Amino acid sequence: MPYDTVNRENIHEMVHEFYGIVLKDDMLAPFFIRSLGENLDGGKWHEHLQTLDSFWLLMMTGISGYSGDPFPPHAFLGQLSKEDFQRWLELFKEVVNRLYTPEIAEKFYKKSEILAAQFIDNLGLNDEDEDDD
Ligand code: HEM
Repeated sequence: MPYDTVNRENIHEMVHEFYGIVLKDDMLAPFFIRSLGENLDGGKWHEHLQTLDSFWLLMMTGISGYSGDPFPPHAFLGQLSKEDFQRWLELFKEVVNRLYTPEIAEKFYKKSEILAAQFIDNLGLNDEDEDDD
């Protein structure tokens, strides 16, 4: 049964599942492995997953806990491309659609899309094709 509410526990499950998939993805894994290593149960990952739990809890419910700024680390990951973000969004969409009801999955996805668009903009990856809306 898909979750029809959002809470700390199911966000934790979603985040863990998403990064497990990302770590097996040929396109995205190298960025994460360079920063955080290969072991999802390792120290750096543990911290990252906790940050992401708090981040999504704030985004989806307004419950405070995350007080960082999501963009800055992405400026130091090496050459990210628009396609990398598209891949990230595709994998994220699959996971939230599997775990949550369509309404909730859509809300997660909309938020991630807005952020990805901001990151793409901040990284100057829009310069070559201005046609996207
Ligand atoms: C190609 C796409 C992406 C890649 C490769 C990527 C990779 C990473 C990596 C490696 C970190 C950890 C950096 C560190 O702690 O040293 C990170 C942090 C983070 N990412 Fe991403 N990311 C991507 C897209 C996104 C998107 C679209 C979102 C939001 C929806 C997002 C949200 C975050 C947040 C909230 C953090 C934690 C920031 C903090 O430390 O406060 N990322 N990302």
